[in-house]
Amino acid sequence: MSDWKVRRAPTIRAEIIVPGDKSISHRAVILAAMSNGTCVLRGFLPSEDCLCTVAAMRALGIEIEAPDESTLIVHGKKGVFTPPKRDLECGNSGTTMRLLAGLLAGQPFRSRLIGDASLSKRPMKRVLDPLRQMGANIVAEGANNRPPLAVEGGGLKPIHYISPVASAQIKSAVLLAGLFANGKTSVTEPSQSRDHTERMLEYFLVRPQKQDLTVSIHGGLIPESRDFQVPGDISSAAFWLVAAAAQPRSHLLVKDVGLNKTRTGLLGVLVRFGAHVREVVEKEEAEPLGNVEIEGARLKGTVIEGREIPNVIDEIPILAVAAALAHGTTVIGNAAELRVKETDRLAAIATNLRAMGAEVAENEDGLEIFGGSPLHGARVQSFGDHRIAMAFAIAGLFAEGETIVQDVDCVNTSYPGFHAQLEQILRDSGSPGTPTIGSFL
Ligand code: S3P
Repeated sequence: MSDWKVRRAPTIRAEIIVPGDKSISHRAVILAAMSNGTCVLRGFLPSEDCLCTVAAMRALGIEIEAPDESTLIVHGKKGVFTPPKRDLECGNSGTTMRLLAGLLAGQPFRSRLIGDASLSKRPMKRVLDPLRQMGANIVAEGANNRPPLAVEGGGLKPIHYISPVASAQIKSAVLLAGLFANGKTSVTEPSQSRDHTERMLEYFLVRPQKQDLTVSIHGGLIPESRDFQVPGDISSAAFWLVAAAAQPRSHLLVKDVGLNKTRTGLLGVLVRFGAHVREVVEKEEAEPLGNVEIEGARLKGTVIEGREIPNVIDEIPILAVAAALAHGTTVIGNAAELRVKETDRLAAIATNLRAMGAEVAENEDGLEIFGGSPLHGARVQSFGDHRIAMAFAIAGLFAEGETIVQDVDCVNTSYPGFHAQLEQILRDSGSPGTPTIGSFL
């Protein structure tokens, strides 16, 4: 198990690109696999989570070549998959398990989805409910509808599902199943979650209809094979954006990053914190892509709640670090979903921020962070959660003394190059003291 040792860093002045978007990489592989021919996917994120989706597609009979680690050549088989010989390993990836549950609900064979200890504790009822209504026979073998999931699919009927949770994973599972149902399947969500599946379906010429918060799809359509470029992941860029935002005189340019409005909530929050942010969309195909430029400032607290939450859901750990560095109080509300992520993120954030000297109140569905007191270095845990590990490595850049982030291997699920990029950014910014990787017991 590796740890990181991080020390205070000076102002950041750098220009970077970040690896491919995780959510989009999963969807690109799945839709290319369902398409009627060969698709070249560039900018694919070769992280553990996305590689689970690739391995599952291969186990379902799809030929996928990888001429280099971020390029995939996927040979689609027109929505025809073959029964897997083994359990499909989803690792730590909720997106793999929930999206594949939808896809497999439409297949006339038996399959079984398994995950690691963290994924095996995450709620699956949210996807089982609609898929069972569509007629899929899915057994959750863990207690309280937890994984593994045994799926006996096929013979689906279309439904209109009103989802109680704004979740792109639920919406996507139902839409993928809907492609194998006879007729029109619709999903309505309580507020807008990320819309990558709808955009990708549109790009692959399967035309979903969208009205307000409802997306509908007609069953039986086969995605038209096309090449696709995955933009950089704004959720990965978020760590560097906050590192620059919280330090007056810092300047960071992130190029070729995804700027989908359902994902860029953090830019609005950073503006409210007082940072100077410039966002320029350079091109838009299936997804908008462009540059973000940020100048640091003395930050002040803000409120993050309500409909904004789905659009910053993965960025709350790093925004909480920004809140601890900002003067005044930051309130995060309506964020109970964070309790069922890779770990209970509200509890993990509160524990680690307190260990570093911040004052935090933890509520059922959020946090109150009383920012502005200096942080001090501490030994903090990742709780096996990649975004907690990365957020607290950034916190360490602002703390007096040394911060050790324990058990950081989980970062490979979304951002295998994080530590190398941190070292590079600090070198580019002229910092002599680089962070260290190792085991610091
Ligand atoms: C994701 C959706 C979000 C997000 C997760 C990735 C996706 O989860 O937190 O990291 O790719 O669809 P929910 O759908 O549970 O909100």
